Amino acid sequence: MLRFAQHDSAIYALKARGQLRSVKVGGKHFRTIWRKPDDERVVQLIDQRFLPHDFVIEEVGTVEQMATAIREMHVRGAGLIGASAGYGMYLAALEAARRDSFDEQMTGAAAQLRATRPTAVNLSWAIERQLQNIAAGKTADEKVAMALRTADLIADEDAEHCRMIGLHGLALIRQIAKTKRKKTVNVLTHCNAGWLAFVDYGSATAPIYAAHDSGLPLHVWVTETRPRNQGSKLTAWELGQHGVSHTLIADSATGHLMQHSEVDLIIVGTDRTTYTGDVANKIGTYLKALAAKANDVPFYVALPSSSIDWKMRDGLKEIPIEQRGADEVKNADGWCDGQQIAVRIAPDQSPAANYGFDVTPRELVTGLITERGVCEANENSIRLLFPEHAP
Ligand code: MRU
Repeated sequence: MLRFAQHDSAIYALKARGQLRSVKVGGKHFRTIWRKPDDERVVQLIDQRFLPHDFVIEEVGTVEQMATAIREMHVRGAGLIGASAGYGMYLAALEAARRDSFDEQMTGAAAQLRATRPTAVNLSWAIERQLQNIAAGKTADEKVAMALRTADLIADEDAEHCRMIGLHGLALIRQIAKTKRKKTVNVLTHCNAGWLAFVDYGSATAPIYAAHDSGLPLHVWVTETRPRNQGSKLTAWELGQHGVSHTLIADSATGHLMQHSEVDLIIVGTDRTTYTGDVANKIGTYLKALAAKANDVPFYVALPSSSIDWKMRDGLKEIPIEQRGADEVKNADGWCDGQQIAVRIAPDQSPAANYGFDVTPRELVTGLITERGVCEANENSIRLLFPEHAP
């Protein structure tokens, strides 16, 4: 008999009731990652490096391939990194069952996945959850079955929590819409915290989709998000697929728009939020929070609890900030004559530093939109929503 942690069974029940749906691409429902329908040894995913100009589905059959997909950002965004690590551990279990020393193999696989990217806490969260559940299996077959179910549960839970974030965030947008007497509500978002950053729905975009689907007049300012342009490539694409009105802007245009009252609300995602409310997100988020404070614009962070680090108190001191290759800053990549190319912007001899994330201190955060509701960005308020994490 395979036993699961309490809340895993609840999620399993939701799946059984078929209440989880994907967002449409060209009229067809899609998640960002799924098991190949006719071969459960293969995981399929949308290779986001080619979006928005090409829709490529990649097949992953080993933990090495999954580690490469995470490190080289075929998949990216905290929620999806977690779900990908969950499936990576399952693929590792399949391989380990064919070899000796199952647990040793899994320890190696866990280390390989952990080493891919440092900032998104969902990565280590998913790996630990898999190791904990797999350890309950007595035989290799039981461990593989446990790894499969856990990977599916992590993915389903991610989708369901994002759907709930959508409903709680919708209430916030509705409040603002009331004060605007049916005039358009202008939301600004940074990077991509959409369904492409998760398994479905997204975090920051979930309230936007819910508001749009409920008929609220809405417009989204989308920052391009240098250096990898997740805003112009991914957020603009997914909002367009869903028919949501949006405008692309340069990252540095945000302050100007707020000074001219063109922004009613900011909603961003997070890769790691401390239990005290400090928020790590894509580089540039902190500057938007500062401008929001200076212009009295509400600054919300949408996140599933899988992105909360219950061991970290001080975000600025403790959250590891990824540094990626200089070429991402010195080049720009895009679509030309039917293919993806990179063009050099900067002089070859100029050095470049490429910080992937920054930390917004809790004082600059108006509130957190989680799957259980909205709370303030402080320890007491967060623990009230998640009492099981009481110290
Ligand atoms: O480098 P990326 O594309 O993985 O960064 C993604 C972000 O910073 C998102 O805003 C973040 O993951 C929050 S949404 C999961």
